Amino acid sequence: MLGLPMSAVDKLKNMVSGEKGRKIAQLDSVSRTVSKDDRITTDSGVKQSTADEWLRVNRDDKTGPMLLEDSYAREKIHRFDHERIPERVVHARGAGAFGNFKLFESAEDVTFAPVLTDTSRETPVFVRFSTVQGSRGSADTVRDVRGFAVKFYTQEGNWDIVGNNIPVFFIQDSIKFPDIIHAVKPEPHNEVPQGQSAHNNFWDFVYMHEEATHMYMWAMSDRAIPRSYRMMQGFGVNTFTLINQKGERHFVKFHFTPELGVHSLVWDEALKLAGQDPDFHRKDLWEAIENGAYPKWKFGIQTIPESQEHDFDFDILDATKLWPEDLIPVRYIGELELNKNVDEYFTQTEQVAFCTAHMVPGIAHSDDPLLQGRSFSYFDTQLSRLGVNWQELPINRPVCPVMNFNRDGQGRHTITKGTVNYWPNRFEVRPPATFQEGAYHDPPQSVEGIKARTKSAKFREHYNQAQLFYNSLSPPEKQHTLTWDLRKQ
Ligand code: HEM
Repeated sequence: MLGLPMSAVDKLKNMVSGEKGRKIAQLDSVSRTVSKDDRITTDSGVKQSTADEWLRVNRDDKTGPMLLEDSYAREKIHRFDHERIPERVVHARGAGAFGNFKLFESAEDVTFAPVLTDTSRETPVFVRFSTVQGSRGSADTVRDVRGFAVKFYTQEGNWDIVGNNIPVFFIQDSIKFPDIIHAVKPEPHNEVPQGQSAHNNFWDFVYMHEEATHMYMWAMSDRAIPRSYRMMQGFGVNTFTLINQKGERHFVKFHFTPELGVHSLVWDEALKLAGQDPDFHRKDLWEAIENGAYPKWKFGIQTIPESQEHDFDFDILDATKLWPEDLIPVRYIGELELNKNVDEYFTQTEQVAFCTAHMVPGIAHSDDPLLQGRSFSYFDTQLSRLGVNWQELPINRPVCPVMNFNRDGQGRHTITKGTVNYWPNRFEVRPPATFQEGAYHDPPQSVEGIKARTKSAKFREHYNQAQLFYNSLSPPEKQHTLTWDLRKQ
């Protein structure tokens, strides 16, 4: 990352739309294209005469001992020794690409967020698709939920929708996330199975845990083996809120609907592909973009006014329930296109870090009991995966300036000039912004109640929507869902 002077950052800030905007997301990195004119150097920039021989003491054409003095050789081995970072604790296997988000209808009746109201804008995005259960090297076509995570580099800061291809989730309360993930991951004694989300511990957990019923119906259906990342829906899953200029709140669910339609593999196809071409989805996305067949998704919102929060027979904050579209239609207001592959997998797809707490003014949390825990967890997990300065990594940097007094820590890149690093200060440097200046707005919300480890009674109903889902399947889809079991793996 370049320690760009403020004037350059200001220039970048004003260039965030369209083609230019997309370039900016990568412009901050120290980008080096390998060329024939290059000569090998050490990390400190000194050219080297050989990359093949360790310095040693030879005599009479006999090979002698190697010298520790060869700091170039030691540096080469040492850098290799430390190439790996921890893989993601979930969603380790993934593929990413750059693109644009274009709004074609303003949602100003429900939000003042420019990314959802300014139809003249194009917002650069980075999207990462993933499986949940398997390790970084696992196969693509396994039976599993797929991640659909979108980072919008908006002029007001980064906004992340960290979604899945299935609209509901296994659990209602984030405190259970370690349990469902331990149960679905390879079993602890022998680390089997890899990449598969149906095995003894998984069934043990969901059998004991009725709220998982709806989601595992989806996970056992054809939905859990997409034909392509380009043919998958994306759902924000959690309930968020939008705030408009009048200060009115609406609950919202986010949707991405693929323009190629939703398609799946059947189990036999998935098995063959997992053996023959474990990179099937990754390559499909890469090749489509290289060939100019840019994948596109319509972006939609379902909204419910705050006053109607309790008008439904399910709790609209419950992530194990979807909002039926015949009750709350999806309003399509934008389009997401992916049109550029990454330049390097590690620095972009591996180092990208999403977080549900990344929201911009006009978009906010709700009391969804899964969401609050997520917003803690994503932030927290990056510390062990990427380190404290993870938001400074080029792929994670916003396109607008970052101005605060957070400082230091391992791997700090930004050089901030000046004599004060605290607020308030006698120079009135970097004061908090006003609402008119674009400050994030925490919508006022009245809160009262009894502190207790419970949720509302509607959270205790677990079967209506599971049944609705099963009944919505065609006969072959029902058959696939019913007959799938571990013996067929
Ligand atoms: C609505 C339910 C959820 C959805 C849709 C979801 C989706 C995702 C996605 C798409 C990723 C991969 C992000 C990437 O591509 O880098 C991810 C990673 C992760 N999720 Fe979730 N998740 C959900 C629930 C949770 C909960 C409840 C927690 C914890 C309380 C959690 C913790 C994590 C962690 C720690 C990672 C790894 C992040 C990283 O290392 O970058 N998730 N999730």
